[in-house]
Amino acid sequence: MEQSLATGSRLEVHVFFVPDASSTLSRDVAQGLRSSPKRIPPKYFYDARGAELFDKICDTDEYYPTRTERALLARVAGDIVGAIRPTDIIELGSGAARKTREIFDAAEEAGFAPRYVPFDVTEDMLRDSAERLLSEYDWLRVHGIVGDYDRHLSKLPSGERRLIMFIGSTIGNFQPDEARHFLSSIADQMGEEDYFLLGTDLVKDDRVLHAAYNDEAGLTAEFNENLLNVLNRELDADFELDHFEHVAFFNDEKSQIEMHLRSKKKQTVAIDKLDMTVSFDPHETILTEVSRKFTKQRVADLLDDAGLELTNWYTPKNDYFGLSLSRRKR
Ligand code: SAH
Ligand code: AVI
Repeated sequence: MEQSLATGSRLEVHVFFVPDASSTLSRDVAQGLRSSPKRIPPKYFYDARGAELFDKICDTDEYYPTRTERALLARVAGDIVGAIRPTDIIELGSGAARKTREIFDAAEEAGFAPRYVPFDVTEDMLRDSAERLLSEYDWLRVHGIVGDYDRHLSKLPSGERRLIMFIGSTIGNFQPDEARHFLSSIADQMGEEDYFLLGTDLVKDDRVLHAAYNDEAGLTAEFNENLLNVLNRELDADFELDHFEHVAFFNDEKSQIEMHLRSKKKQTVAIDKLDMTVSFDPHETILTEVSRKFTKQRVADLLDDAGLELTNWYTPKNDYFGLSLSRRKR
């Protein structure tokens, strides 16, 4: 179902939702908590509080990806924009869209005025960031899409030369088969003139990785535990936040950070809306997120599998983060 609202002449927001918006949450949680080991997909982190916590995590000293990617974008945005001359900038999982300003600044400097198409599952955040961008860039037009990129990717507007961005290494939060499927869906709808800009966090010293997901201020722990608030509110569950703890570590073999919620004791939780109870042993965990860490070769292979060819690879001096530009194989 679609709802279309015009908010001022430069902003359009299209909201896509399924008839029962909580049905995917119900299904995913029922399946995930019945499986062994228990798991819940990370997309449910981002209610209003979760989005706010993620934004704060990005500002911590330990969470290097955001500032590293932003500095890299600032360095290369001029080249990217100059080479592609995009008419549309589409950003998947746009969030607060703070780093995207580097692309807008480069476009402005080069005398282009592309349309911006942010796509995110969190409507309030999308609207807030769109309003803020419109006040900062008087040439900007925004066509926002509130939707789930697992379902609504086909709703991307067409354009002459589109730069489709998926930054922040959110691709690392997908399982390998999900990443392949997601990238193939993007590649399938790319035209000859379209480019894809992907941000990927790279393998590095374990200690740096560990600190990034275990910040001193406890914001990552709160972000992880907030998932239980989402389940309590949306599914009438009775998770006691104090009875679970945040655990995050680097799994070397799988080259991924894993975030878990670990039960502090033997306990049973009722989830009324799903008519189910879930039992936990002491120390049993729910896997709430993987955050895969890549190498240039793994990124090239991932793109290649999806029918994309890598055209440019950008990294900072410390090799902490990679930005890849690719297009559909010809
Ligand atoms: N790109 C931003 C935000 C990354 S956080 C950055 O680099 O900082 C991940 C973002 O993806 C959040 O804003 C979240 O709301 C959004 N998101 C997560 N799962 C999604 C889904 N299935 N469909 C659309 N957006 C999603
Ligand atoms: C959005 N995503 C790329 C973040 C990450 O680093 O995997 C989410 C996050 N989880 C804990 N801290 C940040």
